[in-house]
Amino acid sequence: MWRPPERIKHAAHPGRWPSATEAQTSRLFSPVKVGPITLAERTWVPAMVPWRATDEGFVTDDVLQWYERFARGQPGVIVVEATGIRDVRSGPLLRAGHERFLPGLREIVSVVRRASGGRTRILIQLIDFLAIRRRPVPEKFFAQFLQIVPRHLDAYVAATGAAVTPGPAAVREWLAALTRDQLELVLTTRELEALDVGARERVTDTHLPHIAALPQTLPRDFARAAHLARNAGFDGIELHFAHAYTMASLLSPLNARVDGYGGTRENRARLPLEVYRAVRAAVDTDCAVGCRMLAEECIADGGTIDDAAYFAREFASAGFDFLSLSRGGKFDDALQPKVGQAAYPYTGRSGYECMPSYYSDAQGPFGRNVAAAATIRATVREAGYATPIVTAGGVHNFEQAEKLLRDNVTDIVGVARQALADPDWFRKIRTGHGEAVRLCIYTNYCEALDQRHRQVTCELWDRVDLDAPGVRRSIDRKRRLVAPDWKSAP
Ligand SMILES: Cc1cc2nc3c(=O)[nH]c(=O)nc-3n(C[C@H](O)[C@H](O)[C@H](O)COP(=O)(O)O)c2cc1C
Ligand code: SF4
Repeated sequence: MWRPPERIKHAAHPGRWPSATEAQTSRLFSPVKVGPITLAERTWVPAMVPWRATDEGFVTDDVLQWYERFARGQPGVIVVEATGIRDVRSGPLLRAGHERFLPGLREIVSVVRRASGGRTRILIQLIDFLAIRRRPVPEKFFAQFLQIVPRHLDAYVAATGAAVTPGPAAVREWLAALTRDQLELVLTTRELEALDVGARERVTDTHLPHIAALPQTLPRDFARAAHLARNAGFDGIELHFAHAYTMASLLSPLNARVDGYGGTRENRARLPLEVYRAVRAAVDTDCAVGCRMLAEECIADGGTIDDAAYFAREFASAGFDFLSLSRGGKFDDALQPKVGQAAYPYTGRSGYECMPSYYSDAQGPFGRNVAAAATIRATVREAGYATPIVTAGGVHNFEQAEKLLRDNVTDIVGVARQALADPDWFRKIRTGHGEAVRLCIYTNYCEALDQRHRQVTCELWDRVDLDAPGVRRSIDRKRRLVAPDWKSAP
């Protein structure tokens, strides 16, 4: 993963933990309304993909155990990992695009209700993404993947002086033998990208029928998945409008579609708003519907805080029940993957902004989204909307969380990696046992596992008590899959 060149080492601090009485009268542990639902406290575990579903997208016992473990910590909300809306093969990613996924999703809901004693609200993040290919072996790219078009034939004739137009096989062989400098004169930027990092579809590829048709298919597919999730008993739907995926790409200034769904901010917001309306119509009025969106894209020519403030106001005005702010996490600046692997949107500078690690710059990894979130929330409030804002990024102690609420940066505090490091963080602090918290050290060991699509665990506990009865292990048998119990839980 990219890191700031300054390489300044930062450490997480416990700060001062509150007594049980102080915690119970704090903002963090006060209730908040999110549209039709009420959270017992202002804490939120954002979506984290643990790579535990089957290859067909079904819930497994390991998925259930993962959510059960978070629920025992009784946060205000758990958002279930990014779950695909379409009924297409997506590897071990949960899916909600067909009725056959209903029983598994139902089980997640009931496990969370039971383990949290009904205290935790459970939402699901719904995602759409476009195709991305692995970085090819160059020989295979030239022999099979590259689509030979007249431009390549013309270049061959011009370079070789051939009297007759060659067949594609001769052109493929010729291209494969060119130097890098020569290739850069013949191939387009997209062809070079396909060679260097693997081909990736974009929302602007409207020459492809399925991408031209996104305005027709996305509202329907999101609505169908939301309806299914609602039937499974989820309290709310989080539309994934963030990071490297379809909806965030539609909102981006890089979206230059000319069919009314790109270009100006109004046009870029159009399909996300249509998706929202379709989803809202597909679920009951007691179901919260909101989105995760980017406060900043953190890439060249990408979305700014100003763009995000505009979208947040539009979404609030449309009736979104919450806006959860993340940042970065784009393909545009991702590092080159190894041959045979796909690019990963959390490896470049924008990826660092999304999941900053302890090696950082002077600003450090904690609170990088604070200034943006404060501006976006103020814009929404000035427009007269009370829509709750959720903000995540490096929160690990009580004082930090309480300050974000007191300073009007956010209404709800998102805690992702700290919740993975210690799922009991919420309950420990609320009951006055903050000193028992296992603090995240922000090494991003978990994120590296995520990148390789391996079962996500935390290095602080995944080798502890491996032989204890009932401990489920990773496929390689070396790691336990969920955090050990909090032994002195009250
Ligand atoms: C293993 C892992 C998986 C993640 N999966 C998702 C995801 O499915 N959807 C999402 O919006 N963010 C995802 N994220 C990002 C987190 O939700 C969160 O925004 C990020 O980790 C920053 O918050 P933190 O500093 O509290 O960890 C993931 C993060 C990690 C570490
Ligand atoms: S592996 Fe554990 S300690 Fe390291 S960043 Fe992830 S949650 Fe934090």
